[in-house]
Amino acid sequence: MKRIAVLSSGGDAPGMNAFIRSVVRMAIGNGLEAFGVMRGYQGLIDADIEPLHKRSVSNIIQRGGTMLRTARCPEFKTAKGQRQAIRNLNAHNIDGLVVLGGDGSLAGALALHKAGFKVIGAPGTIDNDLAGTDMAIGVDTALNTVLNAIDRIKETASSHERAFLVEVMGRNCGYIALISGIIGGAEMICIPEKDFELMDVVKVVQKTYISGKTHCIIIVAEGAKHSTQQIKITLDERIEEAGFESRVTILGHIQRGGSPTAFDRLLATRLGAAAVELLLKGESGKMVGLVGNKIMATPIKEVLENRKQLDMELYDMARTLEF
Ligand code: ADP
Ligand code: F6P
Repeated sequence: MKRIAVLSSGGDAPGMNAFIRSVVRMAIGNGLEAFGVMRGYQGLIDADIEPLHKRSVSNIIQRGGTMLRTARCPEFKTAKGQRQAIRNLNAHNIDGLVVLGGDGSLAGALALHKAGFKVIGAPGTIDNDLAGTDMAIGVDTALNTVLNAIDRIKETASSHERAFLVEVMGRNCGYIALISGIIGGAEMICIPEKDFELMDVVKVVQKTYISGKTHCIIIVAEGAKHSTQQIKITLDERIEEAGFESRVTILGHIQRGGSPTAFDRLLATRLGAAAVELLLKGESGKMVGLVGNKIMATPIKEVLENRKQLDMELYDMARTLEF
């Protein structure tokens, strides 16, 4: 193992730069040469690969986004695209690859491993839907961004005595919605993992209004059974019953930006170092993760087969705390 490359893929996440910095510094510190692949798997197919030095990753630990940029690359899902990628890695005499991303990116990493190329994966997605790690890189920062937004929304909601629907990301996972709802003190949390009816939302708003509260905050995961728009239409139709008038805030991509928190910087640094150490040991086809407070390596195949389950005991606790 003399030359390793690193790439970031899929949805970007705060902390990716801290991860890249750790991989590069750990590689060079162990006598290896380091390379960066631009724009995820698209850059691998385009041979957009450049050498990285200790100074290349100076002053990025605090920056959100990814200096290597990222991309969604359907071509890499094809055998042809994967062959072209491996051809380019070999042409650059690269012996090992570190892939940082979500489940799709890890599926790509597994394809390279199965084709015989040494690859280690790392969890980089704000969705936190990956098995094999308690937290993915970017999740803590995203939660703090959402929490800051909820705290601000609560102030204006109270001033106007309104109900607010706050939509958060997570694709098909309700982790961001659940945790931000708990720490933000929401009156209702709508997640893909738990069915609910539109009238349930009307009843919660009504119950909150009757309780004398000056606002009602409802967190809606983007993958929930009913869309934020559907809920809003129902609340408008039932405004007499609901009591509060309502407004919608869709947080969108601000959840993917921002300077990574202390937790994400440490997690990213630890996982980046661990990924290089695994390559140095000749390992491949595994994802590094944080389990308990220990860095663990899980076969990527196992990660992808065992979709992470939301802790529904947390959901039940949240229901109890809502009023
Ligand atoms: P994330 O990694 O955040 O889940 P995507 O699902 O968009 O983001 O996946 C990122 C990239 O990984 C895709 O654009 C594609 O290049 C690659 N990819 C996704 N799924 C597969 C797959 N099953 N096989 C090979 N490559 C894949
Ligand atoms: O996977 C991370 C994520 O932010 C999801 O929560 C969200 O649904 C998706 O990416 C948005 O993708 P894009 O940035 O391509 O619009």
